[in-house]
Amino acid sequence: MSNTRVSRRQFLNYTLMGVGGFMASGMLMPMIRFAVDPVLEGGAAGDFIPTSQKVSELTEEPVRVDFTYDQVDGWYESEVTGTAWVYKDGDKVIALSPVCKHLGCTVNWAGDSAHPNQFFCPCHAGRYEKNGQNVAGTPPIGPLDEFDVKVEDDLLYLGATKPNTLI
Ligand code: FES
Repeated sequence: MSNTRVSRRQFLNYTLMGVGGFMASGMLMPMIRFAVDPVLEGGAAGDFIPTSQKVSELTEEPVRVDFTYDQVDGWYESEVTGTAWVYKDGDKVIALSPVCKHLGCTVNWAGDSAHPNQFFCPCHAGRYEKNGQNVAGTPPIGPLDEFDVKVEDDLLYLGATKPNTLI
C-alpha cells in the first residue's frame, strides 16, 4: 500500500481550494478587465475630425475653423474644442495650428493692424508669416505646426498636427 494516500481532510482542502480559486477568478477577472481596459484601448491617433468648413468656400485668406472631438483620457471622456487657421494655396488646402510656439497662446490672422498679412500672437506680440514661419526678432522660436488635411464631399477633415512642411 502506498504512503501517498490522500486523507479525507486533505481531499476536502484541495477541493475547497480549487473551487474557491475558480470562484475568486470568476469575480476578479471582470474587475481587472474593467480597471485595465481603458488603458489598453486603442487611441484615436491618425483619425480625421470632420469640420463644417466647405472647402469650395475657402480662399487664399486664412479663416478660423473650429471643431470638436471626444477625448478619452484613461477613464475620463470629454468634448474638446480645437481651432485651425485654414486657407487655400492653389488647389492645396493648408491648415495651421493656432498654438504660438513661444508660450502657447492662440494666434490670430491679421490681429495686428501694422502687419495685416501675418498671424499675430497678442500675448507677447509674436508674429508669423502666412505659411506659419515665425518672424525673426519676435518671441516665437519656431513655425506654427500644420494639420494633416483630408477633403470628403467638399468638407474639410483635420488630422493630427505635424511640424510645418511649408517652409
Ligand atoms: S505666447 Fe505667443 S508671443 Fe508669447
